[in-house]
Amino acid sequence: MTIIKPDDFHVHLREKDVLKIVLPYTSRIFQRAVIMPNLSVPITNLSQAYKYKQNIYSEIPKNHKFEPLMTCYLTENCNKNMIAQGFLEKIFIAAKMYLSHTTTNSNHGINNIKKIFPVLEIMQKIGMILLIHGEIYNKNIDIFDRESRFIENIMKPIRRFFPQLKVVLEHISTKESVDYVISEKKYLGATITPHHLMFNYNDMLSNKINPHLYCAPILKNKKHQSALHSAISGNCKRFFLGTDSAPHFITDKECKLGYAGIFNAPIALEMYATVFDNLNVLDKLEAFCSINGARFYNLPLNKEKISLFKFLHIPKKKFLLKTNNKNFIVPLFFNKKLKWTTKLKKNNK
Ligand code: DOR
Ligand code: ZN
Repeated sequence: MTIIKPDDFHVHLREKDVLKIVLPYTSRIFQRAVIMPNLSVPITNLSQAYKYKQNIYSEIPKNHKFEPLMTCYLTENCNKNMIAQGFLEKIFIAAKMYLSHTTTNSNHGINNIKKIFPVLEIMQKIGMILLIHGEIYNKNIDIFDRESRFIENIMKPIRRFFPQLKVVLEHISTKESVDYVISEKKYLGATITPHHLMFNYNDMLSNKINPHLYCAPILKNKKHQSALHSAISGNCKRFFLGTDSAPHFITDKECKLGYAGIFNAPIALEMYATVFDNLNVLDKLEAFCSINGARFYNLPLNKEKISLFKFLHIPKKKFLLKTNNKNFIVPLFFNKKLKWTTKLKKNNK
């Protein structure tokens, strides 16, 4: 089947030698991508964003057409006028909110949500999207409840104060989030990753532990996975593609205290196609991958097309990507058959 070339509305490209080796897997398939700002020194101002964007551009292979869409990491001391200026000058497409301690490099994130109300107010006014890592961290909250508690304790209050703020709940993983997105009208969208669609925690834990399936939010049970399946099978146009491809060195994944993050960029679109096919909803794939997100972000639809072929195969079990500093990155390891593969359409017809 042939679809409009997709966009990835949530990806981690990292920097330096990691950026260099992971970027082509994203730029090969996706026309545009929303770039996460959680570098070890987070992207919190215009000059950092500008520099990071240049670094990304300098690593795009010559035959790839790709546009990085930059985001600003929100901190409690952020400058609301600078963020608004960045949006109006098209340097930032959105701003990202992490509560502290929820995931990789979230330690500069928010502890007291009220501190960022002034910036949320200005974002609501100018139509700038707030991207949310929707989890709350607290010793007393079960890891599997972090997302649903976030909706109740943080998301709903934000909504009461800012009813017209455009929000994307990122990488949703629970039935509660699906229901919440559907219950809202037009100002709330959500991205769904290929791994939350394809796997549940049994895939990570029921035999030997697979650290390459460890991510934040953590994979949930089958009931929640089915709710995500209903979301992509239904008629709500506010669910769309965001891979959350998040590479880490093998030494940070296969170790005592491993990082959350799944590097799925090399096979993300094939994973989505496989899930949509298994659910018998391939007719919804193009809207999810290439239309709904662009419409939510008020971006034009891409002109180019991409072809997917049904071709049963087992991707190479493990291929290591070597970085300059002689460490490795392992793309998502499959023990499942993939039914689909992709090819760029040369003539664009
Ligand atoms: O699994 C994840 N990894 N989830 C996130 O939210 C962040 C990401 C990362 O940056 O490693
Ligand atoms: Zn992410």
